[in-house]
Amino acid sequence: MATTILLLIFLTLFSSASSAAAACNKKDESALLAFKNSFRYSSLTSWSRSTDCCSSWDSVSCDSASGRVTILRFFNDYDMPESIFLNGSIPAAIGDLSELEHVDFSRISSLEGTIPPQLLKLKKLQSLQISQTQVSGPVPHFLSELASLKGLELRYNRLSGPIPASLGNLVHLTSLTLSGNRLTGAVPASLFSKLPKGSLASLALSENKLTGTVPKSFASVPFSSVYLDNNKLTGDALFLFGRSKPTVHINLARNSLAFDFGKAVFPPSMEYIDISHNEIYGSIPYGITKLRNLNYFDVNSNKLCGKIPPNGGRLLSPENYAHNKCLCGGPLKPCK
Ligand SMILES: *[C@@H]1O[C@H](CO)[C@@H](O)[C@H](O)[C@H]1NC(C)=O
Repeated sequence: MATTILLLIFLTLFSSASSAAAACNKKDESALLAFKNSFRYSSLTSWSRSTDCCSSWDSVSCDSASGRVTILRFFNDYDMPESIFLNGSIPAAIGDLSELEHVDFSRISSLEGTIPPQLLKLKKLQSLQISQTQVSGPVPHFLSELASLKGLELRYNRLSGPIPASLGNLVHLTSLTLSGNRLTGAVPASLFSKLPKGSLASLALSENKLTGTVPKSFASVPFSSVYLDNNKLTGDALFLFGRSKPTVHINLARNSLAFDFGKAVFPPSMEYIDISHNEIYGSIPYGITKLRNLNYFDVNSNKLCGKIPPNGGRLLSPENYAHNKCLCGGPLKPCK
């Protein structure tokens, strides 16, 4: 009897010990507290030495075996008033969380200042997201030395200056989103030039002030999506289309692109094509009628001409064809 009870006690102790996660690493705890204390004001009230940073601190996740902090995620929900406040700049102390793999500041309107160079110390960082903040300054060159980076999303901030060509050196990068900033200069031809074999690329540079042409090198990048809309790009972009490409979304709207759309050939996977508000000429290729998954097609405000193919890719809203040179048929007036 006594042996059975002892055995039960032993088993209980053993199983709870083996399933318990490691406690927060002390160096990481200190770095997090320095992070918190560098803000003028923050809502990080759960961050206190009296509790375990891995199990009790909001926005922090650890590797359960080592107790090292691997994820920092600050995120205000879209449909709620903001509840996370980080009033100040991204703290230099973030660089002391050496095991970080994912960092996310999303919809944190109190966050300001520039992207700190201490991020360069995060050699294991796979994803960096700074979105819908007031963060300003350049897209730093040093980001291209974060060799583990797979995804870089700096969306709807106040970033300015050029896109560093050196971002093309990131051999694991498959997703780059810099939309909604004040970026100027050309789209670097180097982007995704070292894309891992078998990977697809996703690029979003919408709503900036980018100039020049779409790099010809993009003809050989296997994009799943390309968003270049709302910039000041000129010239050809026909090479983004092609039968054997894996592309699902292309948005080139509101630039000054000029090419013969009649020559475009589409991959069967296409779901979204917006080339509206450009200088694009030629006709609408018959090939769009074959795109079974196409759910958005907009060519309005270009210089297109000729008969809209039967059923216009099933998308027959006249606005999506309006303001061209001489398109006719389909949802528009019959051709003469
Ligand atoms: C923190 O930032 C928010 C949003 O920018 C602002 O409304 C609030 O007044 C700031 N709080 C403090 C204490 O500075």
